[in-house]
Formats: sequence, C-alpha cells, structure tokens
Amino acid sequence: KPAIVTCTAPVNIAVVKYWGKRNEDLILPINSSLSVTLDQDQLKTTTTVASCRSFQEDRIWLNGKEEDINHPRLQSCLREIRRLARKRHNDRDCSVDMGCLSHKVHICSVNNFPTAAGLASSAAGFACLVYTLAQVYGVDGELSGIARQGSGSACRSMYGGFVQWIMGEREDGKDSVAQQVEPESHWPDLRVLVLVASAERKPVGSTSGMQTSVETSSLLKHRAKSVVPDRMKQMIEAVHKRDFDTFAELTMRDSNQFHATCLDTYPPIFYLNTVSRQVISLVHQYNRHYGEARVAYTFDAGPNAVIYTLQQHVAEFFHVVRHFFPPDNNGKKFLTGIQVEPVS
Ligand code: DP6
Repeated sequence: KPAIVTCTAPVNIAVVKYWGKRNEDLILPINSSLSVTLDQDQLKTTTTVASCRSFQEDRIWLNGKEEDINHPRLQSCLREIRRLARKRHNDRDCSVDMGCLSHKVHICSVNNFPTAAGLASSAAGFACLVYTLAQVYGVDGELSGIARQGSGSACRSMYGGFVQWIMGEREDGKDSVAQQVEPESHWPDLRVLVLVASAERKPVGSTSGMQTSVETSSLLKHRAKSVVPDRMKQMIEAVHKRDFDTFAELTMRDSNQFHATCLDTYPPIFYLNTVSRQVISLVHQYNRHYGEARVAYTFDAGPNAVIYTLQQHVAEFFHVVRHFFPPDNNGKKFLTGIQVEPVS
C-alpha cells in the first residue's frame, strides 16, 4: 500500500530581486533578496507524492505530463531529502521509517496558473516538492537550503509573510538560506494584484538569462556589490515599520534596476513589453496625482505586472486599470486576467 502525501505551496514575489549565481550547481546567489509569499488560495502548486515498495523507479508528472526525473535539480532535491532522512534515522529518530527510505516515489505536481509566464512557477513548484517529500520521509526542520537547490527563488516560498534569502558566504552554501522577516499577519492591509499582460512562455528563462547577465553585465556586478546590501536593510526596515511609501519606492527602483541589468546584458534580454511599460507609466501618474506612493509595480522575468498596494486603494486602482485596459482591448490580449491576492 503506497504512502501518499499532498501539500500546496504558494508563489512568492520578490521586491528585492535575485538575479545571478556565484555557484551554478549549488544555486548560490550573488546577492540577498526579499519577497512576499502570497496567499495559498490563488497562485499555488499542489504536489502529491506516493511512495511504494512496488514502484520500480522514481517518476514525475508536471501538469499532467510525465517529465524527465533525471533533471539535475530534481535529483538534487530527492538526494538531499533522502540524505537528511537517513541522517535522522541514524541519529535514532524513530519517526523516520527506514523501510520507506528505499522506496521509489511517484510525484505529481500541478500549478493553478500558467507555467513559465514569469509568475514564479518554479518557486512554488520546488518549494512544494521539497516540503511534500519531507513529509513522506518524516523529516522536518530547515528545508529552504534544499528547496534552493531546486530553484533559487523556491527557498523563499518555504516561509509565509516577508522572507529574505540571505546570500551567505560559505562555499558549501550551508549559510545560504531563507528566513522569515515578518509573519503574514504583520501587514494585514497589504494587497497584491497580478496584471497578466501575457501568459505565453518567456523567451529567455531566468536560469540562462541570469547566467548571461553574470558573464556580460557590469551593471549587475555594481548592483550586487554596492546597491542591494543597503537596499535590503532599508527594505527590512520599511517592512518592520509598515512604511508603504518607502516599501513602494524601493520595490519599483529594484524592479527597474533588475530590468536595466537585463538590458545591460549582451546580447540584451527584454522581459517587459508595451503593456508592461504602460502599466509603469500609469502607476507613476497615479502616485503623482496623490503626491505619495499608493501603488508599486514589480516585474520578474516576464511582462506581467505584480502590483503591491494597500486595501483602501485596491478598488480605485483596479477601476483605473480597467479604464485604461478594458478586458477586451479590440480583441487584442491585453491584461487578460486580474487577480487580487490578499497576503493573509
Ligand atoms: C526574476 O529562481 O527562477 O524571479 O535559481 O535559476 O531557478 P533559478 O532561477 P529563479 O529566478 C528568479 C528570478 C526572479 C527574481 C526573484 O524571484 O528574486
């Protein structure tokens, strides 16, 4: 009889971006980053892991399609969880069933949002995989260092609320882990809107994009060394104080600098499209109208805008967006979907 565990993990959206690795295999970043983990209700991955003595081999299905289990990052996560389970067992923790350790697993993972559309699907995906495997093998404790080896940003989805990924200094990566800065309850009126400008797959994936940036962009080096360290401190302080104005400005500046490093990459990488740039202008006009930052945008490796705002501004801003981007813009696919994501 198989042991079956199902878990869900939410997407996280960075406000100080991770872009660039110092170690490709261990997935160690060139700068620390900070994100907000979204509510589980709307953007999430659901993963089921079954472990059974009769399974011949490990297998994985993503959104209903079988994928190659030999993918190096998948193998890293499986290996590290099993290593941890074996260690726990040797340390005589009875909750780890040694018999189960030799069993193969079948993994089934589904996203309820478009994969690879710049909506951090790998973050929720690997966080969920690592967490679910850990449940199957009965291990707990610090798992973000394992999720990191699946996808860098995944380590931040292991915690709720406001989460920093501390870059660490060690060559073995043991100190490159995620840490909760504040729990989800800290800023109850913070809201997230996702403006979907395109659900197509992005042309350049983050993994290869950041690799080219590390090789060719001097702006990225400057950012990692001289900009992000101070920005992390300021961002953490803004979060502690629930200072939305500062939080918003830092978020927008960081998104803009990240996309500037993409442009500084050679050959350049374009993630933003016309709609993205219109959203950027709209947000600045909206904020200028009120003489304060009421809304902030941020873009990952894709054209979809993620908007941070406060509950009291959601309805009005939503209305303004709907005015400039009607649902069916002459049949063109502009802003096909808008979701309100409470960070609870
Ligand atoms: C732009 O975590 O997807 O979303 O570590 O190679 O899997 P890998 O990259 P990934 O990169 C995410 C980049 C980003 C910024 C961020 O989430 O911090």
